[in-house]
Amino acid sequence: MSPKKPALLQVLPLMPALETALAERYEVHRLPAAGTERDAFLTARGSEFEGLVTSAQGGAGSTLLAALPRLRVISSFGVGLDQFDLQGAAQRGIPVGYTPDVLNDCVADMAFGLVLASGRRLAQADRFVRAGRWTQNATPFPLGRQVSGARLGIVGLGRIGRTVARRASGFDMDVRYHNRKPVADAPWTYEPQLLELARWADFLVVITAGGAQTRHLIDERVLDALGPKGYLVNVSRGTVVDEEALVRALQQQRIAGAGLDVYEREPEVPPELFALDNVVLAPHISSSTVQTRQAMAQRVLDNLSAFFAGRPLPSAAPTP
Ligand code: 8YV
Repeated sequence: MSPKKPALLQVLPLMPALETALAERYEVHRLPAAGTERDAFLTARGSEFEGLVTSAQGGAGSTLLAALPRLRVISSFGVGLDQFDLQGAAQRGIPVGYTPDVLNDCVADMAFGLVLASGRRLAQADRFVRAGRWTQNATPFPLGRQVSGARLGIVGLGRIGRTVARRASGFDMDVRYHNRKPVADAPWTYEPQLLELARWADFLVVITAGGAQTRHLIDERVLDALGPKGYLVNVSRGTVVDEEALVRALQQQRIAGAGLDVYEREPEVPPELFALDNVVLAPHISSSTVQTRQAMAQRVLDNLSAFFAGRPLPSAAPTP
């Protein structure tokens, strides 16, 4: 008789190929959607699970952890850890696996896509052509902002921020960054004041971690420092930007434009933005390519296999 497969609780739907691979190796149960059904399920069966499979969005907060008294390992599909009770997990000795590095390139590509799309008005240009406005020979399409040679400010020079900075050299851009501390061995100019970076930058790319420490870091003052010629790109977390302030700044053209992949209350996007041509909107797709998502799925599996084989997780989240 083959040994019993470890029981895993899956928080959110995952890629079908990953779900299939998980089901081959583990006894996987899906967590019901939040509400009475979930509560009843956790009360009845919470003590059965040794592993939790989740994502950056699904997370693993303190309420869920408390409902899983026998939990031994968490494996998350994604790099963001803002939805996790890392302290609670560490106190119980539960390692948290995640998927850093494998998505650096894709997220940096997307940041650049949004820099180009906002500066060169690509989504607006597409709407212009589809609406037949080119052939109507009415008002000419408005001029964009040259990206090559522009000043790129990066908020958060972590693994992805550095990858964005490297992309910029191909566009002959001048790069500066803001971080809590200067990053040793980073060849780009460090700007200790976020407001100064915003004042200096033509494009301000936000790629810092989410969570309480960075909530509304990009507020009205930063947006006004960026000013009517500056563009904001956010590929980190919606919570890093004060979304109401951003909507006002875009409506009043106090900044030139924005490229957004993330929002404060996903999948809700402030409806005021739909009417504006100076913002490019994407549905949180920075890591969504076949190649990157496969690599992320592999990390989820590798973290779990290592744990159940008694080895350290190859990609364990830092303990707080
Ligand atoms: C994914 C992300 O959208 O890694 C993250 O933190 O936000 C994205 O890569 C997500 O993890 C998939 O659900």
